[in-house]
Amino acid sequence: MTFYETNIFPTLNDLVTKGFGRFRKDLLTMAKGKVLEIGMGSGMSFDFYPHAVTSVDAIDPNPSMLERAKEKPNTKIKLQLGQAEQLNFEDDSFDTIICFLVYAR
Ligand SMILES: C[S@@+](CC[C@H](N)C(=O)[O-])C[C@H]1O[C@@H](n2cnc3c(N)ncnc32)[C@H](O)[C@@H]1O
Repeated sequence: MTFYETNIFPTLNDLVTKGFGRFRKDLLTMAKGKVLEIGMGSGMSFDFYPHAVTSVDAIDPNPSMLERAKEKPNTKIKLQLGQAEQLNFEDDSFDTIICFLVYAR
């Protein structure tokens, strides 16, 4: 992780995307059951999960994002460090996969 990724980008991402609530809500209306959120960042989508979602495993490779996400406690949501390329879940573990604003390098 670079200095930018751990110290600057998390704040910048929150500022730039804080007006995206409507888009997050629209996307998440389709979510149900057990969800995997890839690249949850600081958890800006957490407030928009509908009742039909029973649990969320949320992963992100950036420890600073994980720390920020922990500041938005939600009993449905389990956080861990992780990346899309190396998932530690059994096959068929999820009903819905969410990936919001996550880019591939
Ligand atoms: C632009 S931010 C979006 C964060 C969040 N999804 C949101 O909507 O606010 C992109 C996030 O993807 C994460 N990310 C980057 N590469 C990833 C990968 N290979 N697997 C999972 N997450 C990744 C970054 O650490 C960052 O938190």
